Amino acid sequence: TDVAFVLGTRPEIIKLAPVVQACERADLEYAIVHTGQHYSDSLDSVFFDQLDLPDPDYDLAVGSGSHGKQTAEMLVGVERAVTETEPAVVLVQGDTNSVLAGALAASKMDTELGHVEAGLRSFDRGMPEETNRVLADHAADYHFAPTDRSKGYLLREGISKFRITVTGNTVVDAIERNLDIAREKSTVLADLGLDGSRFFLMTAHRAENVDDEERFEGLLAGAQRAGDAHDVDVIYPMHPRSRNRLEEFGIDLPPRVRGVEPLEYLDFLQATASADLVLTDSGGVQEEACILGVPCVTMRDNTERPETVDVGANRLSSCDPARIERSVAAMIGAGGWENPFGDGDAADRILRALPLDPEPEEVPQ
Ligand code: UD1
Ligand code: UDP
Repeated sequence: TDVAFVLGTRPEIIKLAPVVQACERADLEYAIVHTGQHYSDSLDSVFFDQLDLPDPDYDLAVGSGSHGKQTAEMLVGVERAVTETEPAVVLVQGDTNSVLAGALAASKMDTELGHVEAGLRSFDRGMPEETNRVLADHAADYHFAPTDRSKGYLLREGISKFRITVTGNTVVDAIERNLDIAREKSTVLADLGLDGSRFFLMTAHRAENVDDEERFEGLLAGAQRAGDAHDVDVIYPMHPRSRNRLEEFGIDLPPRVRGVEPLEYLDFLQATASADLVLTDSGGVQEEACILGVPCVTMRDNTERPETVDVGANRLSSCDPARIERSVAAMIGAGGWENPFGDGDAADRILRALPLDPEPEEVPQ
């Protein structure tokens, strides 16, 4: 096998799909190792279908659990899959527990490890994602940094420049491939009764926000105030973690906030592209809003995507209702920035930088 992809959650499936497709184009042999961190159809199989991915070769079916148990079980499973498939390279993407497990397993074995979306930093070690991405970067042999800024963070941590390639983010490749299809095929606006309406789109699922009752209530109150101020509904496709916490805390969604099931990828793209503004605490959603030219307010204290703030596409509001309302007022109607995440050829650049044969097609640097 040339490449083993270790993935397990919604954003990894979306952002590795372009690299899988680049392997197909280059006629490389690959295996998909699914950790099973995400297993609900709406977070998992729906993306395999929509992104035309083959079924995983391995389904480790690890499921949910404490960080230690979940990561440990993945480690055992990934080691077995890598032993059996003998890949030249293991690729992981992003910052989840699946990434940490894939990185640890591969770095101790006779295979090279590549980290896609390397060098992102929030400098907030309270986030499990920050620990995961730092450790994955320091285990990796090949670092695929989306921007010069992320390359700079890697250099500062002592990682050799010979191991880093600035590729852009594969999220751009995914959008380029799917946006027209989404525009043509998605009926999400009609399905949600939004045809011709103005609306805000919201996602919020980060553990540090929704596991904390005060922060969760704060961000919902902020969305309500912003919706009221601009006379729009806030459409909230809810991650299961958030839905579970809402029930546990006994919180009702405020009237402007419409909770809906998680959206399929094409529907989510179409909804983002059509929204007046995006409210989020997600990483990938900050990037997508920026790339699609839609203003974003990020309900966090920091971001590992500062490029979005620098170009004027994003503003941090924490979970404070008044700050959320003010940030929305400042961002609404903004646009015209440049996409800082590359030209949509990240996947080809990643394959070209790996020690694989045959060489994929030439793309401009
Ligand atoms: C994980 C990542 C997070 C990423 C997110 C993408 C870590 C530490 N966190 O968070 O960085 O942004 O994925 O969406 O890796 N659940 C289901 N069905 C599923 C999966 C989860 O119902 O298919 C519920 C379970 O109650 C579970 C909870 O969601 O306990 C959290 O799932 P988990 O995988 O631990 O973390 P995420 O919040 O999804
Ligand atoms: N997404 C989706 N449906 C939804 C919400 C998000 O398809 O209802 C996609 C979105 O397009 C983005 C990715 O999921 O590419 C982001 O994943 P998530 O927010 O779960 O994780 P993060 O990026 O924060 O790690």
